Amino acid sequence: MPLSETEENAIGEIVNRHAADPTQLVQILRDVQNCLRHVPPAALDELARLLAIERVQVQAVAEFYTFFSSEPRGFYDILISDSITDHMLGSREIAAYLCEKLGIQPGETRSDGRVSVDYTSCTGMCEQGPAGLVNGYTITRLTRDRVDRIVELVNADAPVDQWPREFFAVKDNIHRADLLLKTPFQPGSALKWALTRGVESTFSEIDKSGLRGRGGAGFATSWKWRFCFEGPEESAVCPIDKPTGKVDRYVVCNADEGEPGTFKDRVLLQSYADQVFEGMTVCAAVVDARQGFLYLRGEYLYLYEHLKSVLERRRQSGLLGKNILGRDGFDFDIDIRLGAGAYICGEESALIESLEGKRGIPRNRPPYPVTSGYLNQPTVVNNVETFAAAALITLKGGTWFASVGTEKSRGTKLLSISGDCARPGIYEYPFGTPIAEILRDCGATDTLGVQIGGPSGVFISEREFGRVLGFEDLPTGGSFMVFDHSRDILEIVRNFTHFFAHESCGFCTPCRVGTSLLKDQLDKICAGHGAAGDLVELGHISQLVKTTSHCGLGQTAANPILSTLERYPELYERRLKATTFEPGFDLDSALEVARQMTGRDDAHAHLEQEVEL
Ligand SMILES: Cc1cc2nc3c(=O)[nH]c(=O)nc-3n(C[C@H](O)[C@H](O)[C@H](O)COP(=O)(O)O)c2cc1C
Ligand code: SF4
Repeated sequence: MPLSETEENAIGEIVNRHAADPTQLVQILRDVQNCLRHVPPAALDELARLLAIERVQVQAVAEFYTFFSSEPRGFYDILISDSITDHMLGSREIAAYLCEKLGIQPGETRSDGRVSVDYTSCTGMCEQGPAGLVNGYTITRLTRDRVDRIVELVNADAPVDQWPREFFAVKDNIHRADLLLKTPFQPGSALKWALTRGVESTFSEIDKSGLRGRGGAGFATSWKWRFCFEGPEESAVCPIDKPTGKVDRYVVCNADEGEPGTFKDRVLLQSYADQVFEGMTVCAAVVDARQGFLYLRGEYLYLYEHLKSVLERRRQSGLLGKNILGRDGFDFDIDIRLGAGAYICGEESALIESLEGKRGIPRNRPPYPVTSGYLNQPTVVNNVETFAAAALITLKGGTWFASVGTEKSRGTKLLSISGDCARPGIYEYPFGTPIAEILRDCGATDTLGVQIGGPSGVFISEREFGRVLGFEDLPTGGSFMVFDHSRDILEIVRNFTHFFAHESCGFCTPCRVGTSLLKDQLDKICAGHGAAGDLVELGHISQLVKTTSHCGLGQTAANPILSTLERYPELYERRLKATTFEPGFDLDSALEVARQMTGRDDAHAHLEQEVEL
């Protein structure tokens, strides 16, 4: 169907607002979805024309992100978080009740077009669920009473900005503060130190602190900054004292926070935004970058205006923009870019693709973003917590930070604690803290196990609570989900496995096919239809997905199965039927087809694939 004149004008305005810049395609599509409640085929043509890019490119991006829909969504678009911790708080029952009252099924839009309801991956409100999104805005602590009120508001056509404010209240819930959360911080104080001390010695403080990335992988932050500054072609010189200006470098803050059970970056952005932006600006001084981006997950839309106002205040105070703090040639600014519902965009190279207005498909590495990142320029990508720590290290010195923690894990770690405990929320601990102590503090009793690091991390059993937080033993990006003895471990594993199958970007066969097979196989076993051969097959597919997938998502997707199969084989065995098994599908043979097509006979053939739009 062709666009109406009003629709065409609206799209034209949106494109103009984004300076007809194709790197802003994800932002443009967000606005189109918001305005028209979907992205119709005719809008794809119009966008391709206005942005002077191929229609297939626009279509590929529109189809990739779950927040974009080709069919009209309801005027009220309600999404309920499908995370395991929301389930434990009753999200499934709440969603069923909401659908019953609205007279629709999950996944449907009501025939009058007024409302749609569906599930979405974790919304980062695990300690104040059941949670969801209404027209992109976070809604917390859903109860039957709240649902009754929501149904009334929907049926009365009440605009969302007139709904009761308390429905949208998001609390910080900080229960334990340490170095990062309780050291007083004045905006500009770290930058003043950096300029007084000089960039080289600021860099040495970061180096001395032993700070490692807080996004999960734990790469040394100082090395990352140095690699970016040294870049592919230049030797290190002090950039502020002697600006080089030859290469465009970028600083990116990864605020995608999509790992189920993680919500600590949300709290840093809500209540410590200056510290985070200051860390980015110190980084820009060290690596000589002029442009920064905060890549904010779409589910945190409610933070967008707040963050924009903090940036504006910093510009007014001379902490961003041209000649920062009066220093000639020290120019740096930060833009916020919103995601659109794709967990894979937390992976740094997929994030960069998304920033460039493309599908979030992880790149082949090397080259790494530090040498070839945003627009193929040297780019630092760090987690929100890493930047917040870098600001304080600049202020207080590397030794101050390094005096806390363990030899290989300096400083503290923010944990997002959810699940079966009396006081879920944010806890900051020195690395090296035993799990038993953390469980005591958050009021967890009768604990069966803890999922550390989210679904891609590890499930530890009650026999392992003496283990400690840290890169030496139990690393985590921040997710800490507690399960007591009333929980069914296989249900938890099933939830995680469905999550990975849903979030696989589909680029490489082992992950695209493998995560689906794992999901089906596990469903079959949990439903009591599995035989011994199914269990063997489950282990076999898990190993294949782990060892042959292209990126971290696929490489960790089988972790929930593997770590529970190792610890609780009897739970799986108890669900089996006493029959022999005939395999219905063989992943290895399925991959053979892909190998033949690419002319490669090794399982890593997919690594060579280039997806060019
Ligand atoms: C599937 C996947 C999702 C990820 N999601 C995030 C995320 O939400 N936030 C984050 O900081 N890092 C995430 N990472 C890790 C990033 O790729 C990258 O290592 C990190 O942003 C680097 O920052 P750091 O050195 O400060 O930890 C993810 C990695 C993978 C494989
Ligand atoms: S492993 Fe492959 S299919 Fe899975 S998310 Fe990574 S690139 Fe995409």
